[in-house]
Amino acid sequence: MRTPFVAGNWKMNKNVAEARNLVNELVPELRAVDNVDIVLCPPFTSLMAVSAVLEGTNIGLGAQNMYWEKSGAYTGEISPLMLAEFCEYVIIGHSERRAYFDETDKSVNQKVKAALNNNLHPILCVGETFEENEAGRTEEIVTRQVQKGLLDLEGLFSENAGSSLTIAYEPVWAIGTGKAATADGASDVISNVIRTTLSKKLGDDFSQSVRVLYGGSVKGNNAAEFFSNEEIDGALVGGASLKASDFVLIVKAASMS
Ligand code: PGA
Repeated sequence: MRTPFVAGNWKMNKNVAEARNLVNELVPELRAVDNVDIVLCPPFTSLMAVSAVLEGTNIGLGAQNMYWEKSGAYTGEISPLMLAEFCEYVIIGHSERRAYFDETDKSVNQKVKAALNNNLHPILCVGETFEENEAGRTEEIVTRQVQKGLLDLEGLFSENAGSSLTIAYEPVWAIGTGKAATADGASDVISNVIRTTLSKKLGDDFSQSVRVLYGGSVKGNNAAEFFSNEEIDGALVGGASLKASDFVLIVKAASMS
């Protein structure tokens, strides 16, 4: 049994005061949820403030990106060591980073490696674009992203693989568009492409223990449908994680799944 996992990706939203307010609303609402791993990923500038509010709660903290070197002359970058002071998780290879900031399978792989080497739990994002989907290339693209993102990682996973890595299947055409994939469509890619690739690469036990989330227009009113599918272990939530009442609904749907 894989524990449900719901992560909120705030993207480039909220200043420190707004971030504190949102977390102060979430903490009491989610306090009683003890069967879901809940993670918030605010912008770097709010990590410290949010981490103080989350101290001693059942909600974990993640970043949205990082560089792979530990320190040095890399102006503007944030290292895994810096994040590990506040966070347990880090989102790697989000489609917005691949599309707007030229992230490649190679840089994504370097970041996943650096996260694992520095006690951070990577949430590796994969997913095809609208054009790739239309051209019937979903399997090819997602297989490549999983294979290359996880290149040469053997030995870096803790005994319980599921606690060291999470994958988020986020079809790019479903992100921020209000047009979510169907639960069956997402489950098909998760089971036949992502888990099959994981299994070939790292073995069946590994593949079965890793949590695979769905992301792309998950809302309070469609979350339960995704979570009732046994292949979908939770969600990476963008827009709906910015409002406490919406995010709470999604976490509660996961808790009841
Ligand atoms: P969305 O974003 O929920 O706003 O579609 C999901 C994501 O980008 O992780």
